[in-house]
Amino acid sequence: MHVIFYDCWVGRESGAIPSPSARSPVTIRRRTFLKGTVGFTTAAMSAAQRRTGATGRESAVCDGKKVRVGVIGCGSVSTHYLSHLKIPHVELVSVCDRIFERAEKAGAEHEVPHQYAHIREMLAGAPFDLLVNLTDIQSHYELNKLGLEAGRHVWSEEPMAGTYEEGKHLLKLANARRLRIWAAPTVVLSPQFRFMAETISNGKLGAVASARGTYGHLGPDWAAFFYEEGAGSLADLAVYDLTALTGLLGPAREVIAATTIITPVREIKRDKKVVQVEAEDNAMVTMYHDGGALSHVQSGFNYHASFRHDYTGQGHHTIDIFGREGRIQLAGYSWAPHSVDLALRGKHELKRFADEPSDYVWENGASHMAKCLATEAELPLTAEHALHVVEILEAARESQRTGRRIKLKSRFNWPIFT
Ligand SMILES: NC(=O)c1ccc[n+]([C@@H]2O[C@H](COP(=O)([O-])OP(=O)(O)OC[C@H]3O[C@@H](n4cnc5c(N)ncnc54)[C@H](O)[C@@H]3O)[C@@H](O)[C@H]2O)c1
Repeated sequence: MHVIFYDCWVGRESGAIPSPSARSPVTIRRRTFLKGTVGFTTAAMSAAQRRTGATGRESAVCDGKKVRVGVIGCGSVSTHYLSHLKIPHVELVSVCDRIFERAEKAGAEHEVPHQYAHIREMLAGAPFDLLVNLTDIQSHYELNKLGLEAGRHVWSEEPMAGTYEEGKHLLKLANARRLRIWAAPTVVLSPQFRFMAETISNGKLGAVASARGTYGHLGPDWAAFFYEEGAGSLADLAVYDLTALTGLLGPAREVIAATTIITPVREIKRDKKVVQVEAEDNAMVTMYHDGGALSHVQSGFNYHASFRHDYTGQGHHTIDIFGREGRIQLAGYSWAPHSVDLALRGKHELKRFADEPSDYVWENGASHMAKCLATEAELPLTAEHALHVVEILEAARESQRTGRRIKLKSRFNWPIFT
């Protein structure tokens, strides 16, 4: 079933109210497997069922339901999330970090009443419904698993797990317990992604042959885990364009990849130490999609960028897609896009689209999830798509290790927008 979903926190305390044009409706599907998970969900369901009525259509509205949120990992990314989570649907209950001072600081700055130093204390402490996992890449799987086992819905920073088997286990656990798990990145929620997806699925580009995505910078200097096994530029950066390109061209069937280390020693300023680099800091991944389209994503921690590492004023393209009838290019990063350029058959010059301001920001995932749990709405973002990207990351490493092309098993519902 498809319903129309309008952004209902446009008036959130910390953000500007976007223009009406920015409040674009998003087509979503309703599911019913949330029934009976936790108290608030059941209550929200009955309210949603009442709203739905005989037509089966509803507009999700702010109805005062609050999702109790616990955030684990109070480092760099948490400041963005905690600010964005100040919305009517969320009650911030607890924060946790194994470096307890960080949890205390986040608690004080964002008025979160309970602080913990260990996940087990947090899960046994003040009750909450949604665990938001913002920890090191290598900790995601274990903490997501503990959260689900303790009956909590989970929002995870990317990637949700270290391996495909681990990711599958998380989805199985969530389904068995009627819980939800979703993971970053949320690139498919931007209006620019949607414009590109609809242009492609409307056949405007003709047969799509080739695509590329690129994302790099000089590498994080605040945490060593980025350079340790299991992370690297694949898990930290390539995930964005792998999600965007599989979202646009469909699931990858096979992967071939090459990775190297360009800078073998890194200075970690926050911890005042120097580390040997174990994970790749330079990667190229080629994907084979249905219908013969080929795409590649390049990522790395050694990219000089002459543009700013945000989305203001960038004209450069980071995603290019070529078909027989046209080409479409994304201006700005897939996680911070600002417009789309399109040239169709007979016209060589690019025309700009999807350049109106919107309230899309990359750190919106946990807030969206809380709102969906409270209102029983759905998003075009799925756990299956996130799992597919986990499989691609693992296949890329295996391809580099073995020199082989790796077949993939996972699929997700595609096209995302029709
Ligand atoms: N920093 C960014 O701009 C950014 C942007 C997008 C995504 N991310 C992703 O966010 C995640 C976190 O990155 P970050 O830059 O915030 O790193 P960070 O090192 O600044 O923060 C991670 C925090 O998690 C804590 N932690 C780790 N394991 C823990 C455990 N088992 N229990 C409790 N606390 C634990 C660490 O002590 C640290 O404070 C990563 O997956 C990263 O890829 C980061």
